[in-house]
Amino acid sequence: MSKSPDQPLSVVVLISGNGSNLQAIIDAIATGSVPARVVAVISNRAEAYGLTRAANAGIPQHVLNHRNYADRDAYDAEMMALIDRYAPGLVVLAGFMRILSDGFVAHYAGRMMNIHPSLLPRYRGLNTHQRVLQAGDAVHGASVHFVTPELDAGPVIVQAAVPVQPGDDADALAARVHTREHLIYPLAIRWFAEGRVRLEDDTVLYDGHPISDDERMYRADPATHEAGSGV
Ligand code: GAR
Repeated sequence: MSKSPDQPLSVVVLISGNGSNLQAIIDAIATGSVPARVVAVISNRAEAYGLTRAANAGIPQHVLNHRNYADRDAYDAEMMALIDRYAPGLVVLAGFMRILSDGFVAHYAGRMMNIHPSLLPRYRGLNTHQRVLQAGDAVHGASVHFVTPELDAGPVIVQAAVPVQPGDDADALAARVHTREHLIYPLAIRWFAEGRVRLEDDTVLYDGHPISDDERMYRADPATHEAGSGV
């Protein structure tokens, strides 16, 4: 079910801020390890640095400021129209800090991913690093999941763990989590682009079978990771 190399998956990326995950995706595509193309980057904030990253990579950028719309449905309708102009095969939320309407989520069912800074289902919502420190957890991480109507509750495609170290503050922990985010988001997009993962009835299918906990847990060496996944 692989896509042919001359027809890479087209991806629209939504951001609100720094865009380091966007950069990791751009870089992974540039090295040839992800058969995809970022066709547009859309931000709800004009000052998002990710827009500069997109410009530097020659990717069309758009700003859709939520403050200019009467309500969430009006904003989401405009966002959908803009995204669909690019007819993407995948919509990637990369630090897009807005709640999405059910209609928006339904429109992109099975073709929209999000990255969240925790080992889901633990710590949905905001301030995950602070909450992990307050709980005294020894392990933290990040997850890429398909987006479903319930916030941060969609089925997980891949996740990576990092240790919480003595003396960590939220910034130190966030930085460690980010290094793993930059590995697992390109990997999830690659799997999707190659037709290896898809969403079916709220279950992630990996090579045609429901993904196991072992398969969705990233290991440091991607080759080992995939070897461990029975490939
Ligand atoms: C990332 O840590 C991502 O996990 C988080 O925002 C950050 C964006 O960083 N997303 C969420 O918290 C979504 N609930 P980036 O702009 O440098 O990619």
